Amino acid sequence: MSNCVCKDVAEHEQELQQIISRYQGQPSALIEVLHQAQELIGYLPRQVQEKIADGLGITVNEVYSVISFYSHFSVKPKGEYNVCVCKGTACYVKGAPAVLERLEKELGIKAGDTTDDGKFSLNVVRCLGACGLGPVMTVNNSAHGLLKPDKAAEVIKSYA
Ligand code: FES
Repeated sequence: MSNCVCKDVAEHEQELQQIISRYQGQPSALIEVLHQAQELIGYLPRQVQEKIADGLGITVNEVYSVISFYSHFSVKPKGEYNVCVCKGTACYVKGAPAVLERLEKELGIKAGDTTDDGKFSLNVVRCLGACGLGPVMTVNNSAHGLLKPDKAAEVIKSYA
């Protein structure tokens, strides 16, 4: 896994450095830098956190605490299948929490994590714009609506 991390970071080293240089010594730009770094690499491994901390003049702990506060940020690479469960209001009241719970059980991971085999990552998102079909989830670019926990588990099995 660590080789994989190094490769991902090495591939984007120069662009990452450019992003960091733009905000050199500006701790208040942390969220913006994290956002751009994740857009570039896909996730925020330790190596990237250290570079950002150095550049902005803050500690790695400060960087990590912001990453862990926002579910949008990830410290692990996305899985082959990226599962996003909507927890917007409409989906929430129609049963999204039970769907998410079932998926966490099915995949053996918590939201924000990726399975050890790199096959699935599980994320929570806010409103996918299909509230009438809630609860909704997407698997890569495919949307699945009117979910019940069992149906969501079946969808995942079809990708496994
Ligand atoms: S609240 Fe889930 S799609 Fe809008």
